[in-house]
Amino acid sequence: MIHLNGQYMPIAEAKISPLDRGFLFGDGAYELIPVYSRRPFRLDEHLNRLEHTLEGIRLTNPLSREAWHEVVRRLVAGNEGQDQSIYIQVTRGADVKRDHPFPKGVPPTVFAMSSPLVTVVPELLKSGVACVSSADNRWLRCNLKTVSLLANVLLRQEAVDAGCAETILFRDGFLTEGAASNIFMVKDRLLLAPPKGHLMLPGITYDVVLELAQKHGLAHEVRDILEAEVRDADEIWMTSSTKEVLPVTVLDGLPVGAGKPGPVATAMYGWYQEFKHTVMRGA
Ligand code: PDD
Repeated sequence: MIHLNGQYMPIAEAKISPLDRGFLFGDGAYELIPVYSRRPFRLDEHLNRLEHTLEGIRLTNPLSREAWHEVVRRLVAGNEGQDQSIYIQVTRGADVKRDHPFPKGVPPTVFAMSSPLVTVVPELLKSGVACVSSADNRWLRCNLKTVSLLANVLLRQEAVDAGCAETILFRDGFLTEGAASNIFMVKDRLLLAPPKGHLMLPGITYDVVLELAQKHGLAHEVRDILEAEVRDADEIWMTSSTKEVLPVTVLDGLPVGAGKPGPVATAMYGWYQEFKHTVMRGA
């Protein structure tokens, strides 16, 4: 069962106009919210980020906070599985013609669906994953979670073509993020994260990781990180709502640190799982 413009229906019955601006221009915003034990993880933080993206693209949020909660609640209840992934998307709607400027009096399209939550398999957590790197050639508003994802898609495919899990991006000699994840590194037990700004998406998982570092007394710094520092890191991790905290053990064919998941990654993974469980128990 999916949600489309206030209606709930099987996905096979959902119809969207080919003039929808999401289809024609990638003109819209999205969020992906993990659900554990039927409880959405950090729902209000995801809805805050959606609000921020909508403001950034000058699209009025079509639903109140309560209405979004209700959409998510009904989708979680109406779909199978304790763990789900809720995808929500708002586009600038369908006009009667294709024209770049904002249409007048056209309602936004609101779409939301639930999919099974696909998490990382234990073998990958043990081995870590291999990544490639590439120049970050995206636009300068990477803090907005828009559905215009062609640059991310092409960058992510570079990893897939090389048999790797993710593409780590550098802009002007500095680390930004992954094609669909945030990137952290560790050197001499110090956790480093690039600062939020217009060059990366402010990840919900990124925030959780920094909160957990604070809570558990792990030394950490948020600052610009040189590409050379990443290549000399003891540990690299990628984080996202679906990857959680996943060690990167090979970068561009070379081992990262000892070439296996490091102690800081292992500690953070444990803290993250523990934190998830408190949320799942409703604490
Ligand atoms: N992507 N950076 C980019 C470019 C992303 O696409 C994502 C997540 C993240 C991590 O954000 P979060 O921790 O809030 O999931 C960082 C989602 C999962 C996606 O596009 O499917």
